[in-house]
Amino acid sequence: MCGVFGYVGKSGAAGKIVNGLKRLEYRGYDSWGIAVVKEGEIEVTKKVGAIGDLDVGEWPESHIGVGHTRWATHGGVTEVNAHPHFSTDKSFVLAQNGIVENYQDLKKNLINEDFEFISETDTEVIVRLVEDKLKSVSDLREAVRLAFLDLEGRNTIVVLSSKIDHVIAVRNGSPLVVGVGSGEYFFASDTLSFADKTSRVVFINDGEIVEYKDGEISVFDAESGKKIDFTIEELENLDVDVDKSGYDHFMLKEIVEQKDTVRSAVQYSMKELEPLIGTVKKSSTVYTIGAGTASYEAGQAAYFLRKIAGVKAVELKSYEVDSYRDLFSPNDLIIAYSQSGETADTVEAVEFAISRGAKVASIVNMLGSTLTRISDMPFFVRSGPEICVCSTKAFSAKLSWSLLVSCAIAGKYDEAKKSIYCLSDMLQSYFSDKLFERIRDLSRKLKKSDHAFILGRGQNYYITLESALKIKEISYLHAEGFAGGELKHGVIALIEKGTPVFVLIGKDEEKENIISAAAEVKARGAWLIGVGQVENELFDEFIATPDVGVASCISNVIPFQLVSYFLALELGYDPDKPRNLAKSVTVK
Ligand code: AGP
Repeated sequence: MCGVFGYVGKSGAAGKIVNGLKRLEYRGYDSWGIAVVKEGEIEVTKKVGAIGDLDVGEWPESHIGVGHTRWATHGGVTEVNAHPHFSTDKSFVLAQNGIVENYQDLKKNLINEDFEFISETDTEVIVRLVEDKLKSVSDLREAVRLAFLDLEGRNTIVVLSSKIDHVIAVRNGSPLVVGVGSGEYFFASDTLSFADKTSRVVFINDGEIVEYKDGEISVFDAESGKKIDFTIEELENLDVDVDKSGYDHFMLKEIVEQKDTVRSAVQYSMKELEPLIGTVKKSSTVYTIGAGTASYEAGQAAYFLRKIAGVKAVELKSYEVDSYRDLFSPNDLIIAYSQSGETADTVEAVEFAISRGAKVASIVNMLGSTLTRISDMPFFVRSGPEICVCSTKAFSAKLSWSLLVSCAIAGKYDEAKKSIYCLSDMLQSYFSDKLFERIRDLSRKLKKSDHAFILGRGQNYYITLESALKIKEISYLHAEGFAGGELKHGVIALIEKGTPVFVLIGKDEEKENIISAAAEVKARGAWLIGVGQVENELFDEFIATPDVGVASCISNVIPFQLVSYFLALELGYDPDKPRNLAKSVTVK
């Protein structure tokens, strides 16, 4: 995934780059590097680990530089493998976000031409390739362009020259935006990284090069090398706080923020939803699509569409669409789910559906992201930046929006809105020290277990899957979500005395069935923890969640977000930066 951040301005480049990289760290935080130009020479600093509170006081004063925060793909987490990478003559450095899929072939050819490699990265292949092109062309932009055309895969690169004030960045697949400030430019992986500096943005499209030279930027078509026009867009509501607001971690802050974000997500009038509703009604199949947490949002949304609106809706994992590819048609609607709007698997699946003529709607949190720009009908959940790597508030927000859409199709727009507002109202007092203490106590007991299972049916099934994912990614404890009916077909073999089993329960037609499933595991010694709106004598413990009619299932994920958070603290892990993960997965 990785984040790139280039800067050209008047002064203080290192500080500006550190600020930008901190805002990009959700994209990867195993190592970082910063290059600044001082008197015609590039000085590079690289370190393993997250940036943290870096003091740039001692750094050379410079007005131009580039930085990178890494999520390792090729080569271990070392300073040598961290970006930016130097050219052999130190005349330029290069940072990349993406994967060069044909790097092995390119590397073999370059080694045959006597190029030497010092890192294990695919990035260094691009550097040497640019050097190779510079043997036949003198212009750095042209060499970068020719090298870029040889790359396969989704890549964005930023190149910084030592000789003159010169930055070149190219995009294919991985995001690239340019922030246009007053006498300064930012070349970055997202708008959030410079949102505190400017809201004027140039979106660079796939196959485009942006160059800063002679005090201004120009955009070129990578294929032809010809100069093309570009537009500066003014984005609204871009500058938002990215601090912890007194909380110890972003994760807890974002969990608590759900009391307001579920409400923000449903600020769509019937009129604003009409184009989408009309398309849903005309479509032969509605495919909901996403990856990870967003795939569970897609699953829940398809459930709402079928159950509430009677729409033929099918959930797809964006990384497993292959067998559906030939089935997409102009009569179909894809609804893509994504917090970042940049997930490569999802973007690629959507691009394919578009090529087959299907209509696309998307529900995304990040303004200006790729998915929103390629969708016919982009919608925003307006949850504000979600900094913690694991998704919490964006999940409940997208579920709230999905519920609103399904209910609106079924003529129950007002009922859905009332339920979500009621959820928001009840959550204002739900988050309390008493609840946190209770869940921390539960986590102290849970941390001794090897497994935890979560059972739910109907409206609660996808909540079990998301809840288990939260526990796994933040606390590294093994947890699985199951449909209540599934356990007895095999997994019940794992239940023994004291195995923690959570049971999601609501006031719905599944209540009796889920109680039967609970009884079956209880009979085998399970420690039963009920979560939801109906207490039962079978439960050893019960965590009540807001009873808000059709929106009740959304509230059931909240105790699991808190369990994951407190389990991580109990086990000594950083909940905001779980191992091996990055928030925006822009590689396949
Ligand atoms: C969230 O907790 C996960 N880390 C991850 O599954 C995420 O939901 C997934 O990568 C999709 O991201 P997106 O919503 O930005 O597309």
